[in-house]
Order: sequence, then C-alpha cells, then structure tokens
Amino acid sequence: MASKKQRIGVLTSGGDAPGLNAVIRAVVKSASSLGWEVLGIHDGFEGLLGTKSYRVLTNADVQGLLPRGGTILRTTNKGHFGPRRSDELSEEDPYVRAVKAIEEMGLRALITIGGEGTQRISLELHKLGAPVIGVPKTIDNDLAGTDRTFGFDTALQVATDAIDRLHTTAASHNRVMVLEVMGRHTGWIALHAGLAGGADVILIPEIPFSIERVAEKVHARDVQGSAFSIIVVAEGARPRGGQEMYIAEGRLGGIGHWVGEQLEHLTGKDVRVVVLGHLQRGGSPSPYDRLLSTRYGAAAVQAAARGIYGEMVALRGQDIVTVPLAEACGYLNRVRPHSDLVLCARSLGIVFGDEL
Ligand code: F6P
Repeated sequence: MASKKQRIGVLTSGGDAPGLNAVIRAVVKSASSLGWEVLGIHDGFEGLLGTKSYRVLTNADVQGLLPRGGTILRTTNKGHFGPRRSDELSEEDPYVRAVKAIEEMGLRALITIGGEGTQRISLELHKLGAPVIGVPKTIDNDLAGTDRTFGFDTALQVATDAIDRLHTTAASHNRVMVLEVMGRHTGWIALHAGLAGGADVILIPEIPFSIERVAEKVHARDVQGSAFSIIVVAEGARPRGGQEMYIAEGRLGGIGHWVGEQLEHLTGKDVRVVVLGHLQRGGSPSPYDRLLSTRYGAAAVQAAARGIYGEMVALRGQDIVTVPLAEACGYLNRVRPHSDLVLCARSLGIVFGDEL
C-alpha cells in the first residue's frame, strides 16, 4: 500500500521583513526534495481559524521569490492570538482552535516565520501539542537565542544609505541632520548604521542620553571646522529620566522630532529631521539576508525531518542550530552598553549622549 504523502505548513506572522519569501522558497524546495507537500497558510496564524485559508505551494509557485520583498502568504500583526491568560482549554480559545486545525490539516510540522510575538504564539501552540518550528525574522535583530535575525541586514543597508545621502546635503548647508530609525526597544539598527555611515552621534534605548551633551558635540564640531552633524536616533531612545515616545498606542515614534527641536533651541543651528520608517522593511533582501533566509528555511525542514519540534532555527557563530522556543522568547536581545561595538564607536569620537 502506498504511504500517505507527508505534509508540512508554513506561515509568516508579525511585521514583514525582507527575506520572508526567500524562507518560503527554501522551505518549499527542501520539502519537495523529500517528497513532502507544503501548505502555505495565509495571513499568519489567522489562516488557521474559521474556514482556514491556505494553498498548496509547489516549486513552480516559488519561482522568482528569492529577491522579492514582502510575503506572498501575507501576514497579520495583531490578530486573535493575544497573551493566554489561563490554561483552561475552551473550544473558543484561538490557540485550541489553531491546534485542532493543524491536526485536521494533517501537518507533521508547522514552520512559523516571525519575531518575538510570533515565537511566543508558537511556544503556546507547542505547549498544547502542536509540532511547531520557528524561524527568526525581524529587522530589529532583537530576538534572543540567535546571533542574527533575517531582515536586519537589509534594513541596515537602507539606513546606511540614508546616512550617506544626508551627509552630502548636511555638509552643503552646514546643517544638523537627525535620522530616526526603527528598532523597537533596541538600538541595533541605529548603532550598526551609525557606525557604517559615520554618524557623529548615536542615540539608542540601551543608553539614555542628555540632550545637552549632544548639543555640546554639535558645538565642538563647529569649533573644529565641521559645521554639520549627523545624528542617528533609534525610535526607542529616550532622554535620561524620560520615557520612550509614542505617536499612537503601541507605535513608537516622535523622538527624532523632539531631538531636532531641542537641538535647534540649544545650538541655534538649522536642523532637519528625517524619519526613515517602513522604507527599512520594504524591497528586495540583501545577499546576506537571502542567504540567511535560505539557510533558515532549509534547516527548518531538516528539523521537521528529524522530528525536532518546539525549537527555533538560529545562527550561532557560523552554524545554523536549533534552540528551544522558550529561550527565544525569554528575553529581548539588547545592545550591551559595554560591548566592543559601543566601545569602538566611542573610540572614534562618536557620542552616545551619556558622556560626562
Ligand atoms: O518590529 C519591526 C518594526 O518595524 C519595528 O521596528 C517598528 O517599531 C514596528 O515594527 C512598526 O510596526 P508597524 O508596521 O505596525 O507600524
């Protein structure tokens, strides 16, 4: 008797990031070489609810996907899957319904591509018995358990390019340019792009700053004959004794304009503010992100083949490994204020606003 074809599912959840399609492609190609069928679930975990929304993905469906931004499966940021408040198993519970759907669909594994929120949902589903394998995505690089999330490198390229462009216009007008970048509660994009782009000041959530110290740096540059300054500020940065700024409930933003206004007042210089926003999430993934996404997708299928569930694929040094989902969700990967990157920046004279 012919054995039943093995089947796995894949979904993308949370904010999009460059490389999602590259993971989907690698999952489909790797699964197909094992003779498995892949179901692509639409709109993140939401596709598992109600009438279920998914489609079979074949090698033909993933042709040309490697360089394409966004996700062909679409994604949902905040859907029905809020934090579980009780362990009671009600039939209404979206987690219980999702686990039932996974069983009904006959999935030997569900590959969930997403950031911290996604991996928390994955962990809850796993606790209820679902065969889940996570893939770490986010431009913020703030997910624990892995050295790198895919999407970060592309965002970094966009932010660095923005700094390069701001340099020429800032220097032409003797202006201060403030660039606000994404990153949620961490400063990875700001720190890396600030170093790669040669910023004069980098403000990150992990190092609360004094605006007076930033103004001093701008003034010092003027005195030295560099009458322009480039300031990179992470959206989650905050002044000493202050709070993160929000433009709407749950949406970070506003710190760039605050820094700009304060500096105009303190330095008397012409200041312009640029908020880079979703440009950092759109477009084609960088070669690094294509490669990392491809390795993650293939490794997730390998994990399914070995029956490894409740884990997330991760980069550790040069290797792709798996780590428990609980580790990935345990804490946020933040910039260490005494790390070599920060020390390197300081030794180049870059100011973080905490200097005495
Ligand atoms: O987590 C990725 C991210 O782009 C953050 O850097 C940013 O704070 C947030 O998502 C923006 O979310 P939204 O697309 O919902 O505005």
